[in-house]
Amino acid sequence: MTNQAERETVLLVEDDETFRYVLAEVLGAQGYSVSACSDSPRALEALQHTSIDVVVTDLEMPGMGGGALLGQIRAAFPEIPVIAMTAFGSIENAVELTRAGAANYVAKPFRTQVLFDAIRRALDESRTAREQAQLRRWSGAHLEGLIGTTPSMVSLFKGIGRVAHSPAPVVVRGETGVGKDVVARAIHRASGRGPFVPVNCGAIPEHLIESELFGHKKGAFTGADRDKRGLFEVASGGTLFLDEIGELPLSLQPKLLRVIETGELRPVGGIESQRVDVRIIAATHRDLEAAVQAGAFREDLYWRIQVLHLRIPPLRERATDIPLFVGDFLECLARSRGVQKRISPRATSALASYTWPGNVRQLLGVLEQVVTFVDGSEIDLEDLPESIRAHGAERPLPQTAADRCLTLVELEREYISEILRRTSGNRKRAAEWLGIPRRTFYRRLEEYGFAPELCHPGTSG
Ligand SMILES: Nc1ncnc2c1ncn2[C@@H]1O[C@H](COP(=O)(O)OP(=O)(O)O)[C@@H](O)[C@H]1O
Ligand SMILES: [Mg+2]
Repeated sequence: MTNQAERETVLLVEDDETFRYVLAEVLGAQGYSVSACSDSPRALEALQHTSIDVVVTDLEMPGMGGGALLGQIRAAFPEIPVIAMTAFGSIENAVELTRAGAANYVAKPFRTQVLFDAIRRALDESRTAREQAQLRRWSGAHLEGLIGTTPSMVSLFKGIGRVAHSPAPVVVRGETGVGKDVVARAIHRASGRGPFVPVNCGAIPEHLIESELFGHKKGAFTGADRDKRGLFEVASGGTLFLDEIGELPLSLQPKLLRVIETGELRPVGGIESQRVDVRIIAATHRDLEAAVQAGAFREDLYWRIQVLHLRIPPLRERATDIPLFVGDFLECLARSRGVQKRISPRATSALASYTWPGNVRQLLGVLEQVVTFVDGSEIDLEDLPESIRAHGAERPLPQTAADRCLTLVELEREYISEILRRTSGNRKRAAEWLGIPRRTFYRRLEEYGFAPELCHPGTSG
């Protein structure tokens, strides 16, 4: 069943009033929601203020004709397909139209079924692009280039907007290649702060990292022949992105904590503290709780930095986004290198079923490799690496919580159970993590049938 909100919208541009009226009627009867207008300027207005899925336009109109309108739409709304209605017999015209980017054309007079088919096809072919554009539009410029339409990604995108303006540190967590860098940059863009300074905590030798971060004074150690600004200072007024914070040496962790707590730092070899105004975004693929337990990460720093935290789900948990990544990749390929490739549904479905341990980075790497070797214009199943093909055949599409239709209660129970697992059943810690009073949390545990002492999932009755 289609409900009102999901009906696709056709923008009909036709100067002949009778014809416009009739066409609007029949399209409406087909289940489309129809916006009709009599000229190009009105059509452009409508495109800016309403959500349009496909445009059907007459070519011969007084003033700005349909051809010019087509050009404008291609430039401003590249994702919206345009179907032109041409006068009978003007075939040259039609070829030109296709070249100008029309999705299709119908020659007047036409049978309505011909137009219906053209609309259906244009809508199907443009679905991915339209969905992406729509998401981008309602979610703001800072998300430019970020792909994702699953509920978990949409909620991540909302999270980005929410944490962006807080001065508190944020931790972005997720497996390698899930997009921690791109999310950190999006948070930064949304914050409107000054420079974005990335530093990989795992890549700098331990004996250098303090001076890299906090700077040093001339003569602080052998070789320090002049004062050096640290990255904190470089990032002043902006964001310091501490990538792989889980790799930060234990010896340095208290110093970082002090800077976060006091907003002041002291360069190596320096006597005076200096104030810094730096927003910290940290990222890690490590299980920080486990690192805390193992004594490799200080608990006080952990609690301090993870007040705000965003988790990026692995790609296999958002398989429905995979075709979007593929579509975007092929589009970029066409735009930047002029290479036109399509992908078969079988190949797409194999890509969507694979588990992607290296997540988005791995997917993009595989696509890059595949397009290098494919001769024809279509990527098919046979063109994919063996491991992906083999996997694709046997694995059903992963399900998200939303797909499984969990109720909120079930979802909350699963969530609590996950938190308990992460805190090794420590109820006090779990309550802190969830940010709810301990009493409330204990009551909830009882309600959900978690055993009172052995607070572990699976021990319920
Ligand atoms: N949601 C996304 N939308 C678009 N590109 C993405 C997305 N997530 C990841 N990527 C791309 O995947 C690659 C790996 O992302 P990156 O942020 O470096 O991962 P991580 O830092 O988690 O290892 C990059 O090329 C990045 O642009
Ligand atoms: Mg990274």
